[in-house]
Amino acid sequence: MSVTDVSKTFVSTRALDRVDFDVRAGEVHALIGHNGSGKSTLVKVLAGFHKPDADSGPFTVEGKKLPYGDPEAVHRAGLRFIHQELGLLDELSLLENLRLGDRYLTGRGWRVRWGAERRRAAAALAIVGLDLDPDVKVADLTPIERTQVAVARAMQDEDAVRLVLLDEPTATLPSSEVTKLFELIRRMTAHGVGIVYVSHRLEEIEEIADRVTVLREGRVVGTGPRSEFDNARLVSLIVGSTAGEALPAAAREATQVHGEASLLDFQAVTAGELRQADFVIRTGEIVGVAGLAGSGVHDIPGVLLGRVPVESGHVVVAGRVIDDPDPAKLRPLGAAVLPSPRHLKGIPELTIRENVTLADLRPLTRGWNLDLRRERREAAAIVERFDVKPREPEKPLAELSGGNQQKVAVAKWLRIEPDLLVLDEPTQGVDVGAKAEILDLVASAAAEGLAVVLCSSDLDDLEAVCSRVLVIRGGRVATELTGEQINRKTITEECYRSEKARVS
Ligand SMILES: Nc1ncnc2c1ncn2[C@@H]1O[C@H](COP(=O)(O)OP(=O)(O)OP(=O)(O)O)[C@@H](O)[C@H]1O
Ligand SMILES: [Mg+2]
Repeated sequence: MSVTDVSKTFVSTRALDRVDFDVRAGEVHALIGHNGSGKSTLVKVLAGFHKPDADSGPFTVEGKKLPYGDPEAVHRAGLRFIHQELGLLDELSLLENLRLGDRYLTGRGWRVRWGAERRRAAAALAIVGLDLDPDVKVADLTPIERTQVAVARAMQDEDAVRLVLLDEPTATLPSSEVTKLFELIRRMTAHGVGIVYVSHRLEEIEEIADRVTVLREGRVVGTGPRSEFDNARLVSLIVGSTAGEALPAAAREATQVHGEASLLDFQAVTAGELRQADFVIRTGEIVGVAGLAGSGVHDIPGVLLGRVPVESGHVVVAGRVIDDPDPAKLRPLGAAVLPSPRHLKGIPELTIRENVTLADLRPLTRGWNLDLRRERREAAAIVERFDVKPREPEKPLAELSGGNQQKVAVAKWLRIEPDLLVLDEPTQGVDVGAKAEILDLVASAAAEGLAVVLCSSDLDDLEAVCSRVLVIRGGRVATELTGEQINRKTITEECYRSEKARVS
């Protein structure tokens, strides 16, 4: 597959600028670049979702020329996509999602052969190791399962597949699932299938890619065999001339000192996967929470968001016992929760400005009127501070790249200056530069007394800013790491440590 000289101009943004890109049979070609550099746009042009500018060069698959903007032709040519937004329909069942845009198997009289359809769906799910009832609604799946379903959909009818394009497939996956996905990718490449792999995680690129292409501001700034690009070179290409180790070192010192007031106290909480979980978070500390899939890590924000019911135990926020917590009950107590990117990214139709100020409009209102000038000023300052691109508060959120939407989400909650902030995967899908900026802002807020719970599968994040890391295993806080113990290796070992070995 190759495209030459592709450009894509949205009203004011040149998202792709004369890009050449090709993928060979049986190779993994990584596509990387900072938030908003044009990766998803390129993938969507190839998918036929966006039509590129008229002066773009040809698009060919195995020597045959394909029209732009024709998703069906692309599908017939054997290209399959796992988009950043996954493209699953919540209200439909697994089976319906797997067959989306395709024909059902029919018998005599065009009757759908549901038995055969179910078997086919089960076979597709088996590719990714999922054993779920095909009639389950997608809305009822966990984020991990949703990604798996999207992968299964792309990989089904394997014989027809020539090229699979994955746009940040691992953003919601814990490392054990990433390993499985990589096995699947290797199986596909062994059969001659080409893979385009978009990710911000450089260690994944190192492991899986044969070639890399780096985009910056819509242009290809580097391309070649992976072996010619070490991490330092990749980072400098991604970030541009001002390369650098971007994680905030000074911030960590600041978070060491903390007060005594307990802002969040889980007392023997059983909820979701949590089993009598106990921990206390105090003023000014940044406490990391780590654990494998199914350990219960994400049930902590889940409980606070009211998404996971508390079966027993107590949740105490700022000294008050809160039965059945939800954001509305937490807000008056000075606590805010940022859901994981897959759950909520704000309201796409509203502008950046409206999304940022949505969490609290009170400082902006006089009587019944919203002080629009003040809101504009505040939104402009936030866009500047968080380096949201484009720096145009009046753009609808939907037009931002995934990582920039995430920056807006974090900005929204820091703006209201809570006493306690619970973050669920705040840097997911965020590029290296923006990640450092987000962590830096969180750390400086903590230096001023904000208590932070950082649930993250990104070990670098935990290493960079946490003063303590709680490792959740089997639904409880199994280990607490401090000081020198807070490093990638120890955290990973603790996450994987077997409970049985410990008991014996
Ligand atoms: N539908 C759209 N309308 C207008 N502008 C858009 C639209 N989609 C993307 N853009 C703009 O095009 C540029 C490239 O965005 P794209 O989504 O391709 O980035 P990305 O490299 O995938 O970033 P991320 O890593 O954050 O997902 C951005 O400036 C974005 O704001
Ligand atoms: Mg993207």
